Parts: sequence; structure tokens; C-alpha cells
Amino acid sequence: MKANLTIESLRVDYKQRDQQITALNDVNFRLAYGTSASLIGPSGCGKSTLLNVLAGLNRNYRGKVLLNGESPQENDRTALILQDYGLLPWKTVWDNVKLGLQIKGMAKKECEIKTEEILRKLGLLDLRKRFPNQLSGGQRQRVAIARSLVLEPELLLMDEPFSSLDALTREEMQDLLLRLWQETKLTILLVTHNIEEAVFLGQKIFVMSTCPGTIIRELENPLAGDYSARGKVEFWEMAASLRSSLRRS
Ligand SMILES: Nc1ncnc2c1ncn2[C@@H]1O[C@H](COP(=O)(O)OP(=O)(O)OP(=O)(O)O)[C@@H](O)[C@H]1O
Ligand SMILES: [Mg+2]
Repeated sequence: MKANLTIESLRVDYKQRDQQITALNDVNFRLAYGTSASLIGPSGCGKSTLLNVLAGLNRNYRGKVLLNGESPQENDRTALILQDYGLLPWKTVWDNVKLGLQIKGMAKKECEIKTEEILRKLGLLDLRKRFPNQLSGGQRQRVAIARSLVLEPELLLMDEPFSSLDALTREEMQDLLLRLWQETKLTILLVTHNIEEAVFLGQKIFVMSTCPGTIIRELENPLAGDYSARGKVEFWEMAASLRSSLRRS
């Protein structure tokens, strides 16, 4: 398997004055190019810590973490999307999406072409003059996705991105993510607490133990990528199996 992402013997400790918390211990996994993976585990098991390491935001780790053979700090083809969207409230949709391209130093005309293209793709062009507080939660999350995708990342990390959305909007966003993954063949690592979401979106599903987190189960999921999966018996069987793994974790 040609691995895009390799993690070996990863350990992360948080040091507080007189105390050390081991958030991750002996985490090992690989993800091939273009795979979508879900990461699920109990609260506090180290999921966000893992994404922060992969995004290059937490450099205090031990073990091997390689993205295309580079350390996360060296690799600039990774995007991280958080639950609270992380949009700049004083900038319009258009400016929020364009900002990353400007920071990269892209020529003005090209910035505009790329911004327009991604907003159109995500159905946001009509909302381009609005500010984040004039948008619904689902629209804000779409802007956050547009802002990341416009930079053409190879690895998209998402930390519970849909957890504050209502059930129907959440399913719409899951369908949208599935479509984007199928079109772009990005590598996706999605952290979620929602078992059905993990099954709908993850070709691979990683289950983590309680803190200090490690991967205790790795499932291959042939149902990911099938828009009609939610109506299938196998989907609910997979979800039940995951649920029992989580109970045991
Ligand atoms: N900056 C920090 N300093 C000290 N301990 C921390 C810090 N950040 C996280 N932790 C601890 O590390 C462990 C893992 O935290 P993390 O946020 O990665 O968990 P999580 O799996 O994302 O949880 P949740 O599902 O609730 O978001 C927890 O015990 C947490 O209290
Ligand atoms: Mg978290």
C-alpha cells in the first residue's frame, strides 16, 4: 500500500506543573492516498490531540509522523476544519475564502478565479457578500470547507465538523463531503462522535481507547461512498458492531 500518512509509536504527553497527562500512547496506523477515514473514540481519548499533531500545530510528540515522507511541520498540504468553523467575522464569505490564497502570495486575478470556482462548486456564490453572522450553521460550515479546499490540500482533517448542525443539515453536509471526496480524491481523516457518520464516510474506521488513546480496532468499510448506504441492513450492522467496540473501549 502506498501510504500518504504514516504514524508509528506516536506518544503525546501534556505537562502541567506537577502532573503529566499522557494523551496518546503507541498510536500506529497508515492511510493510503485518497482514502477517507473516520476516527471515533470516547471523549478525552486524544482525537483532537492527534489532529493537532497531524496539522503541525502540536510539535511536542514522540514517534514517527510522516505525510508524504515529510514531518507535519514541513508539509503545507494539510487543512484542518474545526467544529466552530474558524471564520473571520469581519470578513465576507468571499474574503474569508480568498484569504488563504492571498497569504500564499497568489496573483490577484488567479485568487479571484479560484475563489469563484470553489464558491460555485459549494453553492455559495449567492452568499459571497454576507458576513459569517448572516449565515446558518450549515452555510458557515460550507464556507469553512470552501476556505480549506480552495488551497487544494492533500490531507483534509476534520474535528467533529458537523456536530452543531441539526440532523437533516448534518446529512446534507455528509453527502456534500462524500461528493467532494469522490471528485477530488483527497485523503480525509474525520473525527466524529457519531457512529452512523463514521460508517457513512469512512472507508476505514479507526476506534480509539480511553485516555491515553491508542487505536484498538481498524475496520475496512465497503459501504463508505454509497449514497444509499443509510437504507441498507449492512450499514446498521456495521454501526452496531462499532457501537459494541466503543462500549468495550
Ligand atoms: N493543553 C492541554 N493540557 C493538558 N491536558 C490536555 C491539553 N489538551 C488536552 N489535554 C488532555 O488530553 C487528553 C486528550 O484530549 P483531546 O482534546 O485530544 O481529546 P478528544 O478525544 O478530542 O476529546 P473530545 O472528544 O471531548 O473532543 C484529555 O485527557 C485532555 O484533558
Ligand atoms: Mg476533541
